[in-house]
Amino acid sequence: MRTQVGIVGAGPAGLTLALLLKQSGIDSTVIECRDREYVERRVRAGLLEQNTIDLMHQIGAADRMDREGLRHSGVYLRRPGHTQYIDMVNLTGRHIAIYGQQEMVKDLIATWIDRGGDIRFMASSVELSDLDSLSPLIEFTEGRRRIELRCEFIAGCDGFHGVSRTSIPPGVLKEYDLVYPFSWLGILAEAAPSTDALIYSWHEHGFSLYSMGSPTVSRLYLQVPVDEVLEDWPDERIWGELQIRHASEGWRVSEGRIVERGLTPMRSYVCDPMRYGRLFLAGDAAHIVPPTGAKGLNLAVNDVRLLAAALSEWYEQGSATGLDRYSETALRRVWRAQDFSNYMTQMLHDTGEGPFARRLQLARLEYLERSEAAARTLAENYSGLPATDDF
Ligand code: FAD
Ligand code: DHB
Repeated sequence: MRTQVGIVGAGPAGLTLALLLKQSGIDSTVIECRDREYVERRVRAGLLEQNTIDLMHQIGAADRMDREGLRHSGVYLRRPGHTQYIDMVNLTGRHIAIYGQQEMVKDLIATWIDRGGDIRFMASSVELSDLDSLSPLIEFTEGRRRIELRCEFIAGCDGFHGVSRTSIPPGVLKEYDLVYPFSWLGILAEAAPSTDALIYSWHEHGFSLYSMGSPTVSRLYLQVPVDEVLEDWPDERIWGELQIRHASEGWRVSEGRIVERGLTPMRSYVCDPMRYGRLFLAGDAAHIVPPTGAKGLNLAVNDVRLLAAALSEWYEQGSATGLDRYSETALRRVWRAQDFSNYMTQMLHDTGEGPFARRLQLARLEYLERSEAAARTLAENYSGLPATDDF
């Protein structure tokens, strides 16, 4: 088999890339190790920045998002006794939307298949080779058949635990890593949210986040120690802790049946460059951020916006300039997002550094309340810096 661009991974990065390339008349095949139901049900991020919303429109996959997504103008920052509304629209002119990553993935897969796109689910034993040649190879097993897919380029969009990054010979990549000593315990509950915007809460017990999936579904997160196990968190303990950490006078978190729960360890990671020969990495395959700034999904989509433009430049004008600049340009925004995610994480979690660090966090939160410049800085990073090569 042959294709122009072999795409490993059917997450937001791989699928968006496939659709962008198709719009430029470039062929691609998407190779995914899981089945369709699994990738369409995997609950992860929920917040889309304006750039991501715009790109969904550009590729013609935005109809359901426009109908069912919740358009928000800002978020709340809470600490005991104070709730501040960060008005993104007034501060930056940009909106945010709540639309589950799994819903976005469903829409992207349906659009790709509808346009005749080639996607191979349940591909096992995926291996990449000849990466520094002009025709890199993806091999995978489909049913009982071993398939060789000869490509002109490979896009490694297979997430943090995929094969793409680890196919690069040792010594090529410089890796930057920061592991946090806490996790998020996340739940999805059948409860109409008792808030009109996300609430990020600072509390002595630790951080908590109130988000939502739809007008009838709440998504809530609690900071817990990194070695915590779900068995120690029966429903009553989860709701009790959420009520304490989000407490505000005359108001309660609305409770309901918990339909899903999970633990997410917190980590920051970047590899540099995001390229080896004709393999280009995009999204979580190249970098991950702690979820506090809601940047992971949005960064993945930004990478493939740049990569699609660079590949179009190659095929349409025979120019390698965009491809040669891809890593440097993508990493500029990756590091901006790393800094912002780290800032939000450090400001809101109990980092275990003691009372001095806790008081500094409160000083930062108070400053955000008093200074419009500080609030605007948070807002422009949270709602997403403009999609240009400068960020
Ligand atoms: P992924 O979505 O990981 O997609 C990679 C795809 O590649 C997957 O479909 C995978 O099955 C496939 N794959 C893997 N290995 C192979 C292989 N060998 N061969 C073929 N295919 C392969 N971000 C936020 O902003 N907010 C959140 O609340 C949040 N919560 C998260 C919770 C969890 C448990 C995780 C893991 C991530 C979370 N993230 C969150 C991060 C966000 O979901 C990611 O940044 C986003 O999914 C990145 O998209 P991607 O397309 O790069 O990678
Ligand atoms: C969600 C997750 C986040 O990490 C975040 O910062 C905002 C929202 C969510 O799952 O809805």
